[in-house]
Amino acid sequence: MQLVDQEKCLRCGACVAICPLRIYEKPEGDEVRARPERAWLCVRCGHCMGVCPTGAVAVDGLGYSQFMPLPEKPPTAEDFARLVLTRRSIRHYRPDPVPRELLETVLEMAAQAPAGVPPTTVEVAVITDRNRIAELGPAVIHQIKQLRKALRWPVVGWLLRRQLGPALVAAMDRFIGPLTEMAERLQREEGLDMVTWGAPVVMVFHSAPAGFCAQENCIIAATYAMLAAHSLGLGTCWNGFVGALLAHDRTMRERMGIPGDHSVHAALLTGYPAWPAYRRVPPRSFRAVRWT
Ligand SMILES: Cc1cc2nc3c(=O)[nH]c(=O)nc-3n(C[C@H](O)[C@H](O)[C@H](O)COP(=O)(O)O)c2cc1C
Ligand code: SF4
Ligand code: SF4
Repeated sequence: MQLVDQEKCLRCGACVAICPLRIYEKPEGDEVRARPERAWLCVRCGHCMGVCPTGAVAVDGLGYSQFMPLPEKPPTAEDFARLVLTRRSIRHYRPDPVPRELLETVLEMAAQAPAGVPPTTVEVAVITDRNRIAELGPAVIHQIKQLRKALRWPVVGWLLRRQLGPALVAAMDRFIGPLTEMAERLQREEGLDMVTWGAPVVMVFHSAPAGFCAQENCIIAATYAMLAAHSLGLGTCWNGFVGALLAHDRTMRERMGIPGDHSVHAALLTGYPAWPAYRRVPPRSFRAVRWT
């Protein structure tokens, strides 16, 4: 339900223009009002309350006290370039724990990511228990070894190949398989964890079943979290292996505090970087950009 306080309303029309569901109307020469027949469409995006100059509009379930003041200045292009050009995937972490307040700030910023249809479907598991994090590397290696074995079975192997697709099957033979063997050897011989890289925190982005745009919401939120963490002096590394492990292994999901029936869409290693900053930015460009 949406209400317009006529005493406060300036009839500026901002809420009418901004609502993506066209819930407000401003009949010629009349008061701005919400259309009751469209009330149910509201996704509680908060845009109408965000633009109203006098706080005249109210949406059920949203209160002005929940809104943050807008930062005074928008970021400049230089600010953004500095953020993305100085971020790199971090695979050396200091052992120091990350203060909870810092991680909360990261999540607060990541929660500002766009979501398919608000409210967001994203849930986050923040794993800081080192014993649990230490279980992830061996579990990933075990999962990949099992998968490679199953790929060689006659019927199951054929079905799995179809499910994974040719690119992933080829990567399994040429890259992931040999890499896993190397990781297992280095773990045994040098105690190096090539899966979680000694990160003191792993953040997992997951959603309940049947969440609308669940995968996209998690991936965008995790990307925001990466950038937020970087702006706070933390390093991150997106971890496809941990993500795949938790996506397919219900027992491991539950061990990591994630509801068993949830889908896992992203995992981020997080911690203080152990190495000094990079000195130059590696070249990056899209494989193709087509203009029409
Ligand atoms: C979907 C995805 C999965 C990734 N999985 C891993 C991983 O399992 N282990 C790892 O060390 N890095 C992983 N990375 C990090 C990439 O290797 C890294 O982003 C890439 O090498 C480019 O380096 P940059 O992030 O410093 O630009 C992953 C990145 C993405 C986007
Ligand atoms: S919260 Fe969003 S969808 Fe709901 S009335 Fe306001 S602008 Fe429209
Ligand atoms: S944005 Fe606020 S002041 Fe402007 S028309 Fe809507 S309710 Fe009235």
